[in-house]
Amino acid sequence: MQEELVLSRKEGRVGILQLNRPAQLNALNDALMDALGAALLAMEKDDAIGCIILTGSAKAFAAGADISAMQPMTLSDVTRNNFIGRNWETILQVRKPVIAAVAGYALGGGCELAMMCDFIIAADNAKFGQPEIKIGIIPGAGGTQRLPRAVSKSKAMDMVLTGRMMDAQEAERAGLVSRIVPADKLEQEALDAATIIAGMSLPSVIAAKEAVNRAYETTLTEGVRFERRSFHALFATQDQKEGMKAFLEKRKPDFRHE
Ligand code: HXC
Repeated sequence: MQEELVLSRKEGRVGILQLNRPAQLNALNDALMDALGAALLAMEKDDAIGCIILTGSAKAFAAGADISAMQPMTLSDVTRNNFIGRNWETILQVRKPVIAAVAGYALGGGCELAMMCDFIIAADNAKFGQPEIKIGIIPGAGGTQRLPRAVSKSKAMDMVLTGRMMDAQEAERAGLVSRIVPADKLEQEALDAATIIAGMSLPSVIAAKEAVNRAYETTLTEGVRFERRSFHALFATQDQKEGMKAFLEKRKPDFRHE
């Protein structure tokens, strides 16, 4: 029987997805990206989940798109099949937060997938890179766009043109990752962060994610206007009443996500 390409489990209100092609360092092929998209959409629909973690193995988050699958592809193939566009960006439809927990290699499409998550927690052995230039192509899942936004033009150009890797420390200094933890603490740290988020009111979590993402897609004036509308809208939720009441009564809020 074929191994499952994406393992899915729940811890409290946290959904955990693990890329599972360890012998190929989680090289991302079509079947895996289909499975990942389906698993993400299932968690998006599940009312019992408030935050998602995407992770890989101890050696690799993902070492990129599957080079053996790509090598024979022609222009006609990639165009007709809408390679990348067809199933790589399903994660962007997910409104719940997705945390990338990265140990080992996050290269090429693996780095791009991590950057499509909402933030990255890195193990101290993590390595990030866009090495596509070394095999005669360029990043194709947003690397040339998201990396400069994350780490500045100079460092992104350096990474994309030389294909070199960045270690976890450099990635944190550059702003690509939000925190670094010892490799053996990665799972727990990601779960702790996700559990905190999943305990917040889901409507406010979704609004917060949407508003921060606006910062990368529009002008400051439009972004602030968008934020203001969402901020005002949250006063229509029960959870806003409950959150503020709980603060005043010096107790924990009992959010119902409505
Ligand atoms: C297919 C891959 C792979 C990949 C690793 N493997 N990366 N197979 N596609 N991207 C396979 C190897 O062929 C090998 O299989 C097994 O995984 C273990 O890898 P090794 O190379 O033996 O391990 P190691 O010596 O530790 O080197 C690790 C590594 C190296 C530095 C990460 O594997 C590497 O450079 N991989 C390719 C990285 C890369 O170029 N990524 C970008 C791909 S292009 P066997 O059968 O020999 O055991 C891309 C395009 C994105 O991502 C476009 C949009 C998505």
